[in-house]
Amino acid sequence: MISENDSFGERVKVGQNSIVKENVTIGDDVIIFPNVYIGENTKIGNESIIQYGAFIEHDCKIGKKCRIGTNAVLRRETNIGDYSIFGSLSASEGKNWIGNHVLIHSQCHLTTGIIIEDWVFIAPLFVGANDPEMLHGRRRVKKFVPQGPHIKFGSGIAVNVTLLPGVVIGRECIIGAASLVTKDVPDFSIAYGAPARAAKNVDEKWRLPEELYQEFRRRVSEEDLVKFLDRVLSDYE
Ligand SMILES: CC(C)(COP(=O)(O)OP(=O)(O)OC[C@H]1O[C@@H](n2cnc3c(N)ncnc32)[C@H](O)[C@@H]1OP(=O)(O)O)[C@@H](O)C(=O)NCCC(=O)NCCS
Repeated sequence: MISENDSFGERVKVGQNSIVKENVTIGDDVIIFPNVYIGENTKIGNESIIQYGAFIEHDCKIGKKCRIGTNAVLRRETNIGDYSIFGSLSASEGKNWIGNHVLIHSQCHLTTGIIIEDWVFIAPLFVGANDPEMLHGRRRVKKFVPQGPHIKFGSGIAVNVTLLPGVVIGRECIIGAASLVTKDVPDFSIAYGAPARAAKNVDEKWRLPEELYQEFRRRVSEEDLVKFLDRVLSDYE
């Protein structure tokens, strides 16, 4: 089912039983598999692929040449840059920011307010938390302001990692398998364990080319990301 005021590019394919709600913008050569849901005002860039059963809520932005995996869930106002992969059975709780060339594997949970900068890799079974006090049912006591973690440029997060609310993983870090990260991790560190501790620095050889970092910084400043979050979380309920 496609709505009348949607804007579709050239050669877009929409599979059986897929629902595209009002005011959706879809670029050229996008492939939407069967049983996909796309909510109001969502935008999808050229040559992206949306696999079987993905559920994408309203006001999401997905860049060009992305892949959204089978049965993935993107809740409202999830922003994904270009050339990124959002794995099968992974879920974004919405109102978060994911950069370009990000690879999020399957079965990951991205909490509201998380920021994931360009060239980050996240292995399966990642969990991000955003509510230190678990205010469930107690919002009359205190306003809930999500404190999503922030994963900086080029970091690699191994399998089964948990990030507690508000932690910052520095630039090009490696976080070891099954780590529980309770505190910020400095740039270029290898950290692991529960609680995770920085054990050493990454090898110079492992670092991404500096041009990629400069390209990212030209496009997005630290300040832009702070402003972005302030804006998307300001009307959070
Ligand atoms: C963190 C990691 C990169 C460390 O690798 P490394 O620097 O080569 O570390 P080593 O194997 O030399 O181990 C050094 C010590 O740290 C311990 N260690 C390594 N990884 C650990 C982890 N994730 N948690 C707890 N301890 C760990 C080792 O047991 C060893 O302890 P010891 O000195 O008492 O013997 C690696 O263990 C890891 O987790 N890789 C990620 C794998 C992964 O999930 N890939 C995703 C693919 S989809």
